[in-house]
Amino acid sequence: MSNPRKVYLETYGCQMNLADSELVQGIMRNAGYERTAELAAADVVLVNTCAIRENAEQRIYGRLGDFRHYKRKNPGIVIGVLGCMAERLKRELMETDSWVDLVVGPDEYRRLPDLVGHALVGERGIAVRLSKVETYDDIEPLRTEGISAWVSIMRGCDKFCTFCVVPYTRGRERSRSLQSIVREVENLSARGFKEVTLLGQNVNSYRDLDGGYDFADLLDAVASVDSSMRVRFTTSHPQDMSTKLIETIAGRVNICNYVHLPVQSGSDRILELMNRSYTRAQYLERIIEIRNTIPAVSISTDIIAGFPTETEGDHQATLELLSDVRFDGAFTFKYSPREKTKAWALPDGVPEEMKIQRLNEIIDVQRSISATLNAQHIGQTVEVLVEGPSTKSTEDLCGRTESNRMVIFPRCDVEAGQYLMVEITRSNAATLFGSPLQGPRVAVQNSHSWISEEQA
Ligand code: 5AD
Ligand code: SF4
Repeated sequence: MSNPRKVYLETYGCQMNLADSELVQGIMRNAGYERTAELAAADVVLVNTCAIRENAEQRIYGRLGDFRHYKRKNPGIVIGVLGCMAERLKRELMETDSWVDLVVGPDEYRRLPDLVGHALVGERGIAVRLSKVETYDDIEPLRTEGISAWVSIMRGCDKFCTFCVVPYTRGRERSRSLQSIVREVENLSARGFKEVTLLGQNVNSYRDLDGGYDFADLLDAVASVDSSMRVRFTTSHPQDMSTKLIETIAGRVNICNYVHLPVQSGSDRILELMNRSYTRAQYLERIIEIRNTIPAVSISTDIIAGFPTETEGDHQATLELLSDVRFDGAFTFKYSPREKTKAWALPDGVPEEMKIQRLNEIIDVQRSISATLNAQHIGQTVEVLVEGPSTKSTEDLCGRTESNRMVIFPRCDVEAGQYLMVEITRSNAATLFGSPLQGPRVAVQNSHSWISEEQA
């Protein structure tokens, strides 16, 4: 029998895409393919792409250029473009980039083995239909062993924020069943994973229609699988952040006291133009309720600078909101017009330099707040889930607190996946540094790599 064909897969964009890539590898494995981390060993090269902002697409186009050269030298390999850019650009990719063999959107991954099979004998293929029901509920993602796993609980988005391309690239919202998610988490626990992050564009509107369960029910069920396992979730929409959900987070020790709650802007006028369905005051009410109910909660957010028609006054309102809320962290982005979205039709009146300036002001304000909040940890002892060696120094290890803060500390007798108490001695805006309250040094096993969202 001939050797199995090998699949090399590169992933861009959000955590949903990371989870989708594991799903794709699961589908390919079930069809007899093998995964490889080496491009040179691959028969099939897949690129899982992101379309959320123009600069994400530009970066991927650059990388596709590399693959084009590679294919010229290795004409036998199959190259496929998957994910949101595949969905958005569809025929353009097939027609202009004739060296691409496959273009496959997020709801058509079941067809990949077939399409790849045809491509291996020279037939190019495209599959970009969006589905109202596909959740890949029955497919086991192919994960790399580690301590932290992504679990996709739903797909698509129905919110239609006017800047966002997601509803067009990932289609309508649909949820997996609670039962199958819990089963997946049980398997992860048995395999030694110590942290799960439940993923969806808008997890708060999760619904298991047959069982009548909402997201709070799901979170509670997942948290009760293994009390030594940390449970996280992202992303939440302020409109659907219910009291029941907030109380569930507070009520379970292993649900991390950390909420990512994108606000996008501090101006009511802009929030309305964005179709965010809440006002600044309503958002602040949510924040107060979260802080009153969940002790020591950390909150992060997303901000867009330079949305069409944004005035200096709107921008100042965003800066004020940052100072009022004092978020633990913020992902900040320059507005990027996306075709098909409602905002695309609005006059993009904010000049590029002004967008950059506003973005930088937002980053500066937030950095100073993050630095102050981190400095408050100095002298405290925090519990860290050890991830492995620090990327910056082989002498150090890293891990995260429940509030998702990165902690760096000298090597000691501990393994990835263990919990460790660390006394914090110094900090900056992004990281805490400290000393472990535990024994001698020993080698640490593999680490799990954390992908941070791209900025700007
Ligand atoms: N331009 C800039 N930022 C965007 N985001 C989504 N669409 C755009 C866009 N067109 C940001 C939002 C969202 C995060 C995932 O990406 O802040 O919450
Ligand atoms: Fe995009 Fe809004 Fe849906 Fe988030 S909630 S994915 S920003 S449309």
